[in-house]
Amino acid sequence: MIIALNNKCNLTKQDFLKYQEELGKISTNNKLILCPTFLNIGHYNLENVELGAQNVSSKEPGATTGEVAAIQLKEEQVKYCIVGHSERRNYQHETNEEINQKIIKLLDQNIIPILCVGETKEEREKHLEKGIIEKELEIALQQVNQEQKEKIIIAYEPIWSIGTGIIPTNEEIKEMIKNIKEILPNNKVLYGGSANEENIVLLREIKEIDGYLLGGLSLKPEKLKIFIEKLEK
Ligand code: 13P
Repeated sequence: MIIALNNKCNLTKQDFLKYQEELGKISTNNKLILCPTFLNIGHYNLENVELGAQNVSSKEPGATTGEVAAIQLKEEQVKYCIVGHSERRNYQHETNEEINQKIIKLLDQNIIPILCVGETKEEREKHLEKGIIEKELEIALQQVNQEQKEKIIIAYEPIWSIGTGIIPTNEEIKEMIKNIKEILPNNKVLYGGSANEENIVLLREIKEIDGYLLGGLSLKPEKLKIFIEKLEK
């Protein structure tokens, strides 16, 4: 299983250094991927955890103030990078086309994209969720060859579940993951959205899930440890 930790915009340098000490104590056979803020990437110092980023520039290095390019992430030992998170789609108005450019830039540097897809509450109420995800995948993966495509990790994150404490039913998650795997049968698919050390007992019954993308829980190493212990039972 893959357990990816999205710190989002949390942890000052001092807090991050303490946090890393705690993370370093977690022993697991699962693959842990830590995605800190860009600045904290520079303070990464863990052996049992791989390094990811939360974003990358869709443009070539150059006159793009405030951006960080894939080649610069590569220099910092970054092996994975989240793209298309709903918070960026929402606040930064990222489009599927821009996400596609980011994926191409990452793959050029041998960095594995973790592509987030998911529907809003309103879209689900209108039964549009399947079509939304198909479109997100179709545009984000344009011009990516089959071999490269299979390396990409997909994270199904229903937007209405992120940070809300509300999770879909196991049936709903299973159906969405199956839909994704019909399109991409050889890709790993993670679930993200309010997963925690309690509901993991239910979630772990979904055999189609290849791992988790954790937000809030990523910031609490003690609870994360319990989550991993229950997952491994
Ligand atoms: P939460 O786990 O806090 O709901 O966040 C999920 C997420 O957005 C991970 O990318």
